[in-house]
Amino acid sequence: MTAGFITLEGGEGVGKSTQLRRLANTLERHGRRCVVTREPGGSPGAEEIRALLVNGEPGRWDALTETLLLFAARADHVARTIKPALAQGEFVVCDRFADSTYAYQGVGRDMPRETIRRIESIVLGDFKPDLTFVLDLPAETGLARAHARSVAESRFERFGLEFHERLRQAFLDIARRAPERCVVIDAAMREEDVAAEIWRVVAERLQLQVSN
Ligand code: TMP
Repeated sequence: MTAGFITLEGGEGVGKSTQLRRLANTLERHGRRCVVTREPGGSPGAEEIRALLVNGEPGRWDALTETLLLFAARADHVARTIKPALAQGEFVVCDRFADSTYAYQGVGRDMPRETIRRIESIVLGDFKPDLTFVLDLPAETGLARAHARSVAESRFERFGLEFHERLRQAFLDIARRAPERCVVIDAAMREEDVAAEIWRVVAERLQLQVSN
């Protein structure tokens, strides 16, 4: 892998944003140019759609509308941010991508997997991450961390513990179904140890010497 599209996935409060920054810094220290981005969002239009999704009451959108909004945002993000960066030979490190839709809308909100797959196929074709880290943490621990952090953008956090436990299993199941792409990381480890483990896997794929 000389450049690539790397995603971080997992439930609320698992530490994705911190790990994303750390990974981007380490890649840059090794001379790789890197775009850090997120979903929903990551392009001006997609950020506008994000505001519709992450604010307001949990029941604001029905599950199909929510899924379509996510894929509308994703289409713009891929076309305007991700693919242009990859074409320039840059790494793209992204906080969440389509796996989150399978977990949150699919398992969390009972959207049939096949419906999501069909929308995904229209929007993305065969495009998918080269490497995905699933940061795994008990739902209760993650939610406590997320609540302590902020009350803004908390629409999905307020779906309740049982929803978030299903999410955790959904992400683990996604990783089991795509072992060539997904690596599960124990996010209960110290921040430094999570970062070291992520870098070990990326460096192996890049065939770099492992060093921090
Ligand atoms: P974040 O808190 O990781 O920034 O993500 C924003 C929220 O959006 C989070 O609660 C998960 C949710 N989300 C979905 O429900 N489906 C998706 O496809 C994505 C990308 C995010």
